[in-house]
Amino acid sequence: MRILLFITLLLTSTLSAEYTQKVKMPSITFKMAEDDNFKAMQRNCQWCHSYGYILNQGKQSKEFWNKSVVKMREVYKAPISVKDEITITNYLFKHYGNGKLQ
Ligand code: HEC
Repeated sequence: MRILLFITLLLTSTLSAEYTQKVKMPSITFKMAEDDNFKAMQRNCQWCHSYGYILNQGKQSKEFWNKSVVKMREVYKAPISVKDEITITNYLFKHYGNGKLQ
């Protein structure tokens, strides 16, 4: 019984810990190239993470970008249509491509 009381006290004591100072979170805006296909990218790629994830990859091949878009759909379950997949891949390769298909 005493051990149960001890465990209960131990568990609940951490819950009452409080942080009183103001925390300022940095806000970073990642700007991406705007063209006719930007909207498709905007519609599909900003729900879960910032554009920073995309920009941080640097210049990449068309295959890389296509694999990234497909990964978002198949692994992370982003509802990206096949039409948008093609549009976004072309958009990413046009603005953030290294000129290589593979
Ligand atoms: C359903 C949520 C979701 C959507 C929508 C989404 N992503 Fe992601 N993305 C993730 C997750 C989760 C990660 C991995 C995060 C980590 O590993 O820290 C990620 C990581 C990435 C990365 C980093 C490299 C990698 O493969 O892990 C890139 C590039 C990327 N996403 C591109 C895109 C693009 C382009 C789109 C739009 C077509 C998109 N994401 C839409 C969830 C999403």
